[in-house]
Amino acid sequence: MDIRIENFTKRFDKTTVIEDLSLTVRDGEMMALLGPSGCGKSTTLFAICGVYTFDEGRLFFGERDVTGLASQKRNVGVVFQSFALYPHLTVAQNIGFPLKVRGESRAEIDRQVRSAAEMVRVPELLDRRPGQLSGGQQQRVALARALIRRPDVLLMDEPLANLDAKLRLDMRTEIRRLQQETGITAILVTHDQVEAMSMCDRIAIMREGRILQIAAPRDMYDRPDDTFVAGFLGNPPINFVETQVVDGHCRTQRDTVRVPLPERLIGLPAGAKLTLGVRPEFVQPSHHTRFTGRITFIESQGREDLFDLELEDGTVLRSIQSVGARVGVGDAVEWGISPHDVLFFDDAGQRL
Ligand SMILES: Nc1ncnc2c1ncn2[C@@H]1O[C@H](COP(=O)(O)OP(=O)(O)O)[C@@H](O)[C@H]1O
Ligand SMILES: [Mg+2]
Repeated sequence: MDIRIENFTKRFDKTTVIEDLSLTVRDGEMMALLGPSGCGKSTTLFAICGVYTFDEGRLFFGERDVTGLASQKRNVGVVFQSFALYPHLTVAQNIGFPLKVRGESRAEIDRQVRSAAEMVRVPELLDRRPGQLSGGQQQRVALARALIRRPDVLLMDEPLANLDAKLRLDMRTEIRRLQQETGITAILVTHDQVEAMSMCDRIAIMREGRILQIAAPRDMYDRPDDTFVAGFLGNPPINFVETQVVDGHCRTQRDTVRVPLPERLIGLPAGAKLTLGVRPEFVQPSHHTRFTGRITFIESQGREDLFDLELEDGTVLRSIQSVGARVGVGDAVEWGISPHDVLFFDDAGQRL
């Protein structure tokens, strides 16, 4: 079932936290709401599940207008960062709780609890209490409880934030598998770009209560609409280089980097300011738009090495390369970029 938010505005007292936000999550799709802390992701999610009301705008699940509907009547499954399990109930009672509230028969609850527990792979834990489970197991139980009512939509707010690194990886795969198997329309709130990129069909990236761009992960990474989006996606982050247009090229003030303008930008006036965006994987020894500098930092990351290359004017370009480059800190090198890998942003940070 698709989720349609139209012109959603939310205020707390006089502060507008979300302004005129519109978003459609397609049937069966998993959408990330991605953005820095405080940008309004949870507020948006709470408004979709009915904890917060809309000050303006409308919300549709499929054709149904649910804007004014009480939370319990929306048929949503919700998973929070803090697993929010009932500590005094067993795993089975926790998972079955929504059905018990609905007055289902004991036998039916048992049957469905067993099936949900198998789906999230915790069938052997049904008699334990939450305190006897690891964080990952608790989150699986929370997922089972969210899914047992066969909700129309699944809403998750930073579900992996309380898990350690290894578990987070497992649960990333697990949540995506469950979402795809059930075909449920889902929204994942996260501040972690890797989670958004690896788990979701599309990403809506937010800043200060607005959506800046909605796109599939790869498209957003390759074609960010502005410097904020470009900088938010990618680790290590994209390099930005300040340049000006000079006869068919853009170059840094001291000409340490000089990149030919692509055809579509040839008409830009001399002196126009452009910010170049170059991802670290595109700064390589073999690429042919060259610049010279000195290595100021090296970090080995196992499969790859990270380098900081400082140019004469102080510009630092970070490069990521598969291991094997025989250079050390302090070495002078001549590396390069391919002009077609460069992103061009105008004075206001919009991609050209
Ligand atoms: N109940 C509330 N009352 C007042 N301000 C709130 C409330 N909830 C959130 N805010 C404010 O709204 C903004 C967005 O918060 P939130 O949606 O929690 O952000 P995120 O989930 O992206 O970190 C923040 O500035 C936060 O301080
Ligand atoms: Mg939040």
